[in-house]
Amino acid sequence: AGLVVLISGNGSNLQAILDAISTGELPAEVRAVISNKKDAYGLERARKAGVPAVVKSRRSDQNRAEYDTELANLVAGYQPDLIVLAGWMRLLTLNFLGRFPGRVINLHPALPGMFPGVDAIERAYEAYHRGEIKYTGIMVHYVPDEGVDIGPIINQQIVEIRPSDTLEELEMRVHACEHELLVKTIQQLINQMEEEDA
Ligand code: GRF
Repeated sequence: AGLVVLISGNGSNLQAILDAISTGELPAEVRAVISNKKDAYGLERARKAGVPAVVKSRRSDQNRAEYDTELANLVAGYQPDLIVLAGWMRLLTLNFLGRFPGRVINLHPALPGMFPGVDAIERAYEAYHRGEIKYTGIMVHYVPDEGVDIGPIINQQIVEIRPSDTLEELEMRVHACEHELLVKTIQQLINQMEEEDA
């Protein structure tokens, strides 16, 4: 299966995908990594793995619709079976999403409906210390429309918070779980696609 991975930053989830491909765990190929930020470290990870690393930032003369249309054209050129938003920090409109129905998935470091948007782990940590939640979690969901961190859930998993956790410790636990769940989810979707084709 062909993947295009969209990133904006560190790319540790991208790395988990690349690693799972190189060990043979994931029968897939990353056809391109696209970042809206030119200094995203994930671009370096892509290059090291021999994967095309493409920067696509919005030009100041471009509105959201124009950018999304160009991004969609760029992505479509790689003919991906699946488009993975792995730390992609830009809202996508239907100009993009409408081109790839059922093929765009997103990873969110909180449970469904919890802490959409940025700093989800930190907000979960604070909510825990205010006694509002007892645990947090992660999820992978389809991105059907323009909502932020919302859409039909594919997989979710609880992540425990320990009273002694520093924010950094919680972040590390959440990220480690994300790396596993994302790879597992892509694996599952590839299996589904193969069954549908058979
Ligand atoms: C992850 O926590 C992901 O859930 C969120 O952004 C973070 C990206 O991390 N959307 P990385 O760039 O994959 O290291």
